[in-house]
Amino acid sequence: MPRAATQGCDHAGEPRAAAAQTGRLGARDTYQPKRERALDRYDGLTRFFHWVFAAVIIYTSVAGYTLARIGGGAVHDFLSRLNMSIATVLIVLFPLRVIWKFVRVEPRALPNTSAWQRSLANGVHSLIYATIFAVLASGFLMVPNGYSFFGLIEIHTPFPKGALTDELFTVHRASCALLAGLVALHVLAVIKHQLIARNDVLRRML
Ligand code: HEM
Repeated sequence: MPRAATQGCDHAGEPRAAAAQTGRLGARDTYQPKRERALDRYDGLTRFFHWVFAAVIIYTSVAGYTLARIGGGAVHDFLSRLNMSIATVLIVLFPLRVIWKFVRVEPRALPNTSAWQRSLANGVHSLIYATIFAVLASGFLMVPNGYSFFGLIEIHTPFPKGALTDELFTVHRASCALLAGLVALHVLAVIKHQLIARNDVLRRML
């Protein structure tokens, strides 16, 4: 289970989360020593994983939907191989990210949020992890006869072209659409917290 950072106090001895709640203050608005501020933020490795995954998922989604429209040809094949190679980086990083999620120290709870909002956020985050797994696994397994990883090494895949790889492509399409929807929901939630609740949620991941 991930460990949670404990609640800290500000210089006046008042619990900071309570002060932020009553005064609708973000963590940045209250005085905190540097070590205390670190407890309101995700650790460096979590932030690294988050932004690498975000960049790759956004790029591969845009490229994947573009590829589906441009049909065959040399440009398609080049972009398709590039897309598979970039997505393969996530296949390597994904298990490390999951392990790290279970052992890291969690930052303190976000101010101005209720227990059900935190449960909802945790549920959506878990669903995003499960969907990323489905996208990566189906993407890898549906490619018949392997592919080249950035032209450096040949990656072997288990199934020849047939009904199974076709079904896996269906799973890939469905999980990609679900992931795109979840990412949109996630971004909207961040915007809502940042602009309406004003709890400086974005700074926790920067
Ligand atoms: C970050 C994870 C990934 C995302 C977000 C993603 C996204 C997408 C999207 C949006 C499509 C278009 C689906 C459609 O036509 O409706 C697609 C197609 C495809 N994906 Fe993925 N994908 C990912 C991982 C992978 C992996 C790991 C592989 C294989 C190693 C792969 C191989 C393919 C292939 C072969 C296609 C068919 C289009 C083409 O000819 O390249 N994908 N992907």
